[in-house]
Amino acid sequence: MDLEHEYLLQNYARYPLVLHRGEGPRVWDVDGKPYLDFISGIGVNALGHDHPRITRVIEAQARLLIHSSNLYYHEYQGPLAQRIAKISGLQRSFFCNSGTEAMEGALKMVRAHGHQRSADKFEIISLDNSFHGRTLGALSVTGQPKYRKDFEPLLPGVHFVTGNDFAQLEAAFSERTAGIVIEWIQGEGGIFPVSMEYAVRARELADRYDALLVFDEIQCGVGRAGTYFAYQLADPVVLPDVMVAAKPLACGLPLGVITANERAAAAIGAGMHGSTFGGSALSCRVALEFFEILDELMPQIRRVGDYFRAELRKLGAKHPRITEVRGAGLMIGAQLDGPGKQIVNDAMDRGLLINCTHETVLRFLPPYIITEKEVDEAIAILDQVL
Ligand SMILES: Cc1ncc(COP(=O)(O)O)c(C=O)c1O
Repeated sequence: MDLEHEYLLQNYARYPLVLHRGEGPRVWDVDGKPYLDFISGIGVNALGHDHPRITRVIEAQARLLIHSSNLYYHEYQGPLAQRIAKISGLQRSFFCNSGTEAMEGALKMVRAHGHQRSADKFEIISLDNSFHGRTLGALSVTGQPKYRKDFEPLLPGVHFVTGNDFAQLEAAFSERTAGIVIEWIQGEGGIFPVSMEYAVRARELADRYDALLVFDEIQCGVGRAGTYFAYQLADPVVLPDVMVAAKPLACGLPLGVITANERAAAAIGAGMHGSTFGGSALSCRVALEFFEILDELMPQIRRVGDYFRAELRKLGAKHPRITEVRGAGLMIGAQLDGPGKQIVNDAMDRGLLINCTHETVLRFLPPYIITEKEVDEAIAILDQVL
């Protein structure tokens, strides 16, 4: 900790906890104290820690080939893209290394799509309270001024609208609109879903104005909400033109993806985009293994998520500090009546890792492998803390 204070950029306000190892849904600090990990690296360690099948694949692939660049083919990008096409309903993928990098590429796709139609078709609509990443493009469409204010001016032509407000949405669209970006469930913003009717209207307007509909599934996607992608919670499904995902894809190894239908993918031609590290043999092989396991886990994610929300609501009935419980699958927020920082600290002291987003929302992103037993353990700790 002392070395970090001396030598690292002081951009993170870390908790005073040095982690050493993990197993299943638990991690241990350097003094050997165990913690139940209900934040899983902010939604990354979807299978918990040291999952035997993931560890085995990492070992095997590390011996064969870790990285080869995108100058050549390797054996795993094609099958992984095929897998994502089958479960997403979209056709073509591009692999990168993180959420923000996926969003950057999606924004380039939106811009190029607009450019190919007219020079002044470059505007992008995004939602208030959204979070799309920390690089300049992704930041430009992030609807929370606190993240943007130190870096302005950002990309021109971005219009923010309030989610689920139909009049604002219609007023924001014009022939100049190249795309609209939506998180199906806002994560950093406090676990707020958009309504299905809103998504349907966004789809209609994007079609009417020949703009691309982009869903940011970086936090709510890839199984987290109990469906492969959160947009599949709607019935009938509202398909985007472009979808970006990252966090859990490779169980802790860096991997992001942009997946697009043919219309959107046509915007990006040879030489227009790329990534040195993106889609390494190691990350892609791990992601393929992860998807095999995810198929088996999907019913458990829904069952345990429902149980968790029900238990949190019971806790709310007992402790008025919890005023609402939101979310889907294992992406859960408990709205508090005030700041939640102390609750997070006290839970950590008692061996439960969670975090607080938007100041007043306790956020739970546990690994997909948890059962009712671990939920009971977490609820008991929260009960004491509250
Ligand atoms: C919805 C959403 N989009 C984008 C990002 C940025 O992802 P990354 O931190 O991998 O760049 C995040 C990260 O929390 C996110 O939750």
